[in-house]
Amino acid sequence: MTRPLKPGLIGSSPPHESALLHVAGEARYTDDIPEAQGTLHAALGLSPVAHGRLLGIDLDLLRRQPGVVAVLTAADIPGSNNCGPLVHDDPILAAEHLRYLGQPVFAVIASSRLLARRAAALAKTAIRCEALPAVLNALQAHAAGDYVVPPMHLSRGDAATALAQAPHSLSGDWSVGGQEQFYLEGQISYALPQEQQAMLLHCSTQHPSEMQQLIAHALGWHAHQVQVQCRRMGGGFGGKESQSALFACVAAIAAQQLQRPVKLRVDRDDDFLITGRRHGFDYRWQIGFDEQGHILGAEVDLIANCGHSADLSAPVMARALCHFDNAYWLPHLALHGFCARTNTQSNTAFRGFGGPQGALAIEMILDSVVRRLGLDPLLVRQRNFYRSEGSCDVTPYGQPVADNILQPLTGQLLASSDYHARRAEVARFNTSSAVLKKGLALTPVKFGISFNVVHLNQAGALVHVYTDGSVMVNHGGTEMGQGLNTKVAQVVAHELGLSLSAVRCSATDTQKIANTSATAASTGTDLNGKAAQQAAQTIRQRLASCAAALFGCDAAAIEFANDEVRAGSHSLSFKDLVAKAYLQRVQLWSEGFYTTPGLQWDKTRLQGRPFYYFAYGAAVVEVLVDTLTGENRITRADLLHDAGRSLNPALDIGQVEGGFVQGVGWLTTEELVWHPSSGALLTHAPSTYKIPTANDSPLDFRVSLFKQANAVDSIHRSKAVGEPPLLLGFAALLAIKDAVAACGPAGCDPQLCAPATAERVLAAVDALGAQGTAGTT
Ligand code: MTE
Ligand code: MOS
Repeated sequence: MTRPLKPGLIGSSPPHESALLHVAGEARYTDDIPEAQGTLHAALGLSPVAHGRLLGIDLDLLRRQPGVVAVLTAADIPGSNNCGPLVHDDPILAAEHLRYLGQPVFAVIASSRLLARRAAALAKTAIRCEALPAVLNALQAHAAGDYVVPPMHLSRGDAATALAQAPHSLSGDWSVGGQEQFYLEGQISYALPQEQQAMLLHCSTQHPSEMQQLIAHALGWHAHQVQVQCRRMGGGFGGKESQSALFACVAAIAAQQLQRPVKLRVDRDDDFLITGRRHGFDYRWQIGFDEQGHILGAEVDLIANCGHSADLSAPVMARALCHFDNAYWLPHLALHGFCARTNTQSNTAFRGFGGPQGALAIEMILDSVVRRLGLDPLLVRQRNFYRSEGSCDVTPYGQPVADNILQPLTGQLLASSDYHARRAEVARFNTSSAVLKKGLALTPVKFGISFNVVHLNQAGALVHVYTDGSVMVNHGGTEMGQGLNTKVAQVVAHELGLSLSAVRCSATDTQKIANTSATAASTGTDLNGKAAQQAAQTIRQRLASCAAALFGCDAAAIEFANDEVRAGSHSLSFKDLVAKAYLQRVQLWSEGFYTTPGLQWDKTRLQGRPFYYFAYGAAVVEVLVDTLTGENRITRADLLHDAGRSLNPALDIGQVEGGFVQGVGWLTTEELVWHPSSGALLTHAPSTYKIPTANDSPLDFRVSLFKQANAVDSIHRSKAVGEPPLLLGFAALLAIKDAVAACGPAGCDPQLCAPATAERVLAAVDALGAQGTAGTT
């Protein structure tokens, strides 16, 4: 069955299929699609209060505005007023109850986008409401027991006894903020009415099938009346998994009512005010350990700020609980996850999907353990790593860690980053530098790959070979910049022995592949790559039989490589074989379908085998902190990440770099601030919300892939790489904490919540009483 690899295709690095279009500004995003005649534009009128009762809307005022064609409210929704993915608790337009400041209450449809926005901006005047007391903080909701879904518990052994009997114990509170996806292309949907009661939607979404379902429900239609298409997104990062639905539904409802094309492109500020983002978490933890730093028991409350509705909070919390262990064997554990309801935007998926919030907690707790014991942070981490000796290799949710590469991976990174020598150098530097302090940290990552919900792990693909030998691939995944289409094209070209230029991927379309899962949980290539491979293999087998008959040999002897088909001394170009096969009435297209094997999950007990495999990585980050301003600079970052046998190392390294920088942004500069009384999100634009820029990238940035094939039969033994590298950013936060600790007495444990903004760093330094020392120079 082993066929020669087409030289340079699998494991080589052809550029992203749209790279040239991206840099030339020619890649067509939803807003670039030429507008159909008669297109109208929608804008949303937003709730001016964080919590309240809607008493009325001055529709006359809005309808009188220049260019306004119609104003839609909840009453205009023919079907169900819901755009929530799992629990149907997410109104498209608010009906009676206003749940957060920024919630869409009405939609203005006008002749131009500007005129629609001008009219919608009158929301404050047009909306009559009675304000009610708002809950803006997750701890307040937790105290009141107000949750969007019931609490979840994950436990193993007897945490209470282990904590009581441990020689040492520590406890504390900690918190990490949320994070805005900040996709460069904002949310957008363009709806075009079709003949016989149907609707075509161009939508920037990670989940075309769910958009189709929700639009059908909102219109009271069947799914077959709605077609959703997405050629590409200008970034999604989880923010377009469920939350593209509100915009898709509004555009579709308006287009249906008016029988005109309607586009809804949201302004950046409105996007911030309307949509949710990564959940901020509060933690209350207790940990028991021995003299060597072995963790003996832990009990932790994880409280997520979910916002006003459930959205994806339940699976986000489940993933947080399943990633609390990160790389470590924790014998006795009790985790309690609370999904707090607040009067803010409904929080949702963001790269890592709760995994980062789970794993970061244990890293911060371990840091406190290390500082209490005065031991080497790396040594303590390694002592707690999953290992096969003593059966310390089963996760708290019951899945064995069968593919553990933590020790060799960290070992390689230690050597390549010169970790030990640099630790000593950092210590030396800090004794002689009063104001500037260096910090260094190494953090590992173990991340479970698959959707935690078994049935979502399925995918379909459709491969067409045209009579000229060119190939069109369609699959259920969506392209958001991550390179999914490039990888799937590589897989198909490889299977048919073709050059990559012979294969093209087309827009994701609900009329081509039905009932798709979101492109999420990093599974895009694993699922769709396998489905497309299967489709290509079916076609190859048919072509091989055809060639075997022509050559007079066995079909098993036929090889597909270098755009040719050959057996022994016989050969034929792929193109010629296809032309002959067509004349013989051979089916030249095929579908493929894939389901991930071996998964099993009990979502009430949080036990089973939710993940097909784990992806690993580790980072060493060195920072320089100015203890007078709190500013920091990453002076060097060494990342070593496991992408299995990489399908495309350049794309994978891009994902590792991007994920890391996004993780660093989350933990350092990206801060969300809501007004404490009005509940208005104050950081709703790039002027106040700071994502990393090119200037923030590490001065010395060294990124490598760990070269080892996946232990399971994934697509060409590669590993998913979309989300796990975000967790490499933890090392930046721990390095900053390390630098802050250098301002205090030996063994001090600075209090530093995330994001570690300059203000927080300064406060942490102040709290150590180090200002005096710094000021004396
Ligand atoms: N990379 C780019 N350039 N843009 C994105 O929006 N999203 C991330 C990641 N990498 C994203 C990205 C997220 S949240 C996920 S789940 C994966 O890509 C999804 O794609 P994949 O499954 O094909 O890796
Ligand atoms: Mo990614 S958060 O699973 O879209």
